[in-house]
Amino acid sequence: MNMEETRQLIDKLFEQADLEDAQLESLIDGRTDEAASYLFEKARVRRNENYGNKVFLRGLIEFTNYCRNNCYYCGIRCGNTGCERYRLSTQQIAQCADQGYELGFRTFVLQGGEDPYYTDEMIAGIVRQLKEAHPDCAVTLSIGERTKETYRLWYEAGADRYLLRHETADKAHYEKLHPASMSFENRMRCLYDLKEIGFQTGAGMMLESPFQTTANIVKDLRFMQDLKPEMIGIGPFIPHKDTPFRDHEAGSAKLTLFMLGILRLMFPEALIPATTALGTVDGRGREKGIEAGANVVMPNLSPAGVREKYLLYDGKICTGDEAAVCIDCMKRRIASVGCEAVVARGDVKGYAGRKLSGKAMTDTRQVIMP
Ligand code: 5AD
Ligand code: FES
Repeated sequence: MNMEETRQLIDKLFEQADLEDAQLESLIDGRTDEAASYLFEKARVRRNENYGNKVFLRGLIEFTNYCRNNCYYCGIRCGNTGCERYRLSTQQIAQCADQGYELGFRTFVLQGGEDPYYTDEMIAGIVRQLKEAHPDCAVTLSIGERTKETYRLWYEAGADRYLLRHETADKAHYEKLHPASMSFENRMRCLYDLKEIGFQTGAGMMLESPFQTTANIVKDLRFMQDLKPEMIGIGPFIPHKDTPFRDHEAGSAKLTLFMLGILRLMFPEALIPATTALGTVDGRGREKGIEAGANVVMPNLSPAGVREKYLLYDGKICTGDEAAVCIDCMKRRIASVGCEAVVARGDVKGYAGRKLSGKAMTDTRQVIMP
């Protein structure tokens, strides 16, 4: 495909938010730097139409690295005996959030392995406590696969959003990344349940994970067109030395960036983060991600003492910094590409009012961070 044909495909994707399977595949496989910069230009137009040049910040609290699962790619898999485990107490979580609030965060993301130590009721209690302390904030959960009843309990406790990457929308590929104890169908069921309950729901995939093909990626896009996630998180696979995939090669920043551009054109209103994994494979990965159409970053709020223990992959960045250092650094990075970090819940476009109440209802204005 020459540049003229590529340009036409990108223009069509820009206008119609869709292409045929074969066109998507040839766009992805034929990517060049020139094609990427044209794609990113278009992606920024779409992002700016929907969200301006604002980038939303999420305070990430990695509260447990215990996990009952054994995904072949992940450093905190239960089979990794070399992983030093930790759990944060309810009080430590609340302290992280208080500190984050002072720094300007209005979304807290509670992320952890699937850790049965925290019962459904304990999680509901933590959510209630966070919402009570900070009614103008959104709470996002990212703690894996549960029953619909449990998800509903947490929604009713006040959780606003839920992140659960689907990892790959191809069943055979899914089974190459996960042990037989994990089920593709259950993961899909969880995602549709979350949507049905009313969560702003996040899906997403690793890119260049072992055995992934371009056809798999197109399937990911088709699946997400069906699910209609409000949030889409993607990042390169990065090997972890104590996992079965230790000898597989890391994914590239280039493919993740290119896919960010495509996602922005196909899902114009989605909240799309420039992820830590992207920042790990390229020192300016997060900035480049914003330039490719992303509009969210998720700096770490976990206490410095536990950060280096939440290692999903080798070389993870920002494991040594205090939250205040991290956010200053992030704000500078966002400004360096002409965007603004904002103090706001940062709900998906059109969401305002659906699950806002009381103080939060009146406090949805956006303030540029100092
Ligand atoms: N490389 C990149 N991303 C990973 N994740 C887990 N392990 C790795 C890895 N080795 C991602 C998964 C998961 C999210 C929390 O982190 O997509 O959903
Ligand atoms: Fe964490 Fe820069 S974003 S140190």
